[in-house]
Amino acid sequence: MTVKECRLFGQLFEEMLMKRSVGSVVMKIFGMVLVGGLLAAAVLAQTITAGGAADPMDFKILYATPQDVVEGKQVALTMCAGCHGSNGVSTQKGVPNIAGQRPVYLHLELKVYQKGGRGNKSMTNTVKYMNDDAIMKVSAYYASQDPAEPLRSTSKADVGKPNAMTAGKAAAAACGGCHGDAGVSSIAGTPSLIGSDPKYLIAAISAYKSGERKHDMMKALVSGLTEAEVSNIALYYALQAPDRAKTPAPGNVAAGKTAAASCSGCHGGDGGVSVNPATPSLAGQEAQYFIAALRAYKDGARNNATMKGPATAVDEATAKNLAAYYASQTPKAPQVGKPLSVAEWAERCDRCHGVNGNSTDPRAPALAAQRVDYLERVMLAYKKGERKSKEMAVMSDGLDDDLITGLSNHYARQKARGLAYMILPLVPLKK
Ligand code: HEC
Ligand code: HEC
Ligand code: HEC
Ligand code: HEC
Repeated sequence: MTVKECRLFGQLFEEMLMKRSVGSVVMKIFGMVLVGGLLAAAVLAQTITAGGAADPMDFKILYATPQDVVEGKQVALTMCAGCHGSNGVSTQKGVPNIAGQRPVYLHLELKVYQKGGRGNKSMTNTVKYMNDDAIMKVSAYYASQDPAEPLRSTSKADVGKPNAMTAGKAAAAACGGCHGDAGVSSIAGTPSLIGSDPKYLIAAISAYKSGERKHDMMKALVSGLTEAEVSNIALYYALQAPDRAKTPAPGNVAAGKTAAASCSGCHGGDGGVSVNPATPSLAGQEAQYFIAALRAYKDGARNNATMKGPATAVDEATAKNLAAYYASQTPKAPQVGKPLSVAEWAERCDRCHGVNGNSTDPRAPALAAQRVDYLERVMLAYKKGERKSKEMAVMSDGLDDDLITGLSNHYARQKARGLAYMILPLVPLKK
């Protein structure tokens, strides 16, 4: 492919990007893939939001010439190599690899540093007085370099951390003897734990811990649990297949159903399936526990302003009927998303960052073979809002520390593909 043809495609690509950014919405684009000088049309779904109108300067780098790259190298050797290495492969902790990084991205980030937008003093001071031309050339130089080798590590520990669900199951092992392995009780007086929102279960466990809900045995059983364990346990039970408690429920179901009319406003009209996370579901609940709970609200042993009134209005016979009615109802699992594993998360990230972190969009950074310490740090920075990006703020919101470590290790271990892999019909930067 000649330089002239490449430039033509640079223009085409630029036009596509410009058009898309005007709409400023998440859109799909169709890109052309350039492989080994042959043009293969391929459909690539990209979902990056282009904020505002694109500055034509941002894409100027797509027209870099071999001469620009040679000049960029001079800038790199004098100003950047001390930290990023002369070839863009960093050997210093906290300093990212920039070899083979996507050119428009490099250019854009350097402009962000210039304005102090990433809060890193050493980078801001380095690039503060550089002119646009030098920034463009040094970006073209580093983009043209061979990317770093992936992190080689035989340790599975960091990528294979159990997710919240697995951790919850392990922590709940101590509860199964009474509450049933999957949270369905077969012991009279012991509640089932399925069918309620995790928020309710977390609140109930904290109430035992603090002594606000008085029950010495449950207090002793849960007081050693960390906050993370409690939330994992609650998630584990919320995701179990719900079933009715396996204990007898004497009482008149029909009479109970009539009496339940006054409860359904809060506990759910659908046989006691609550839609409010703060209100427990009653469908399928163990009958003896149910009766004891009403008694406890009534006499104040379970101090709750909301339930005091309804419980006081119910006599012993009605309580028994209500218990029989609710125990006969079919519980439903609350609406809770199953936590994703590192691999499942990575699939989502790859939508923008490319297969295994090899971005095909010149504006989206490649993540493959990036330094693990750097990845971890910037992902935390997005999460805390220290580094600003609309896309990444949304994406990092649901990530906890374990997932950040897992994803960083995942990407650091991927084989990085340099410029030849990209959609971008760039002028061949290497001679
Ligand atoms: C004093 C050491 C130092 C020097 C000199 C330096 N950098 Fe950096 N650079 C860093 C550090 C540290 C970071 C990570 C900062 C952060 O987290 O925002 C960084 C980040 C970057 C990034 C962002 C990479 C990414 O993936 O987002 C680019 C691009 C970059 N540097 C290019 C350059 C260029 C080009 C030069 C020379 C003109 C240069 N740097 C000089 C230390 C340096
Ligand atoms: C020795 C039996 C036993 C074990 C073990 C046990 N529980 Fe309980 N649990 C009970 C009983 C009995 C109650 C009812 C207490 C009450 O009346 O407040 C209860 C109540 C609860 C409740 C309140 C349910 C509701 O609907 O409000 C939660 C939540 C709970 N337990 C969680 C746990 C967790 C988590 C563990 C394991 C760490 C655990 N329990 C271990 C017997 C047990
Ligand atoms: C105004 C809303 C409201 C009404 C009406 C109401 N409840 Fe409740 N109920 C709640 C809330 C909120 C809780 C959780 C209180 C707590 O944290 O202890 C609760 C808890 C319960 C529990 C304890 C469940 C468990 O898992 O520990 C039972 C049993 C119960 N209600 C039965 C009833 C019955 C029977 C009626 C009708 C006679 C009724 N409720 C009416 C709001 C209500
Ligand atoms: C909707 C598109 C999109 C998705 C999905 C997405 N990202 Fe990003 N990501 C971006 C963009 C755009 C940037 C550059 C933002 C900036 O300028 O700070 C970025 C930047 C990053 C960076 C900084 C790279 C560097 O070199 O400094 C990391 C790390 C990162 N993303 C990781 C992830 C991970 C992990 C996921 C999945 C949990 C993910 N991203 C999902 C669009 C996305």
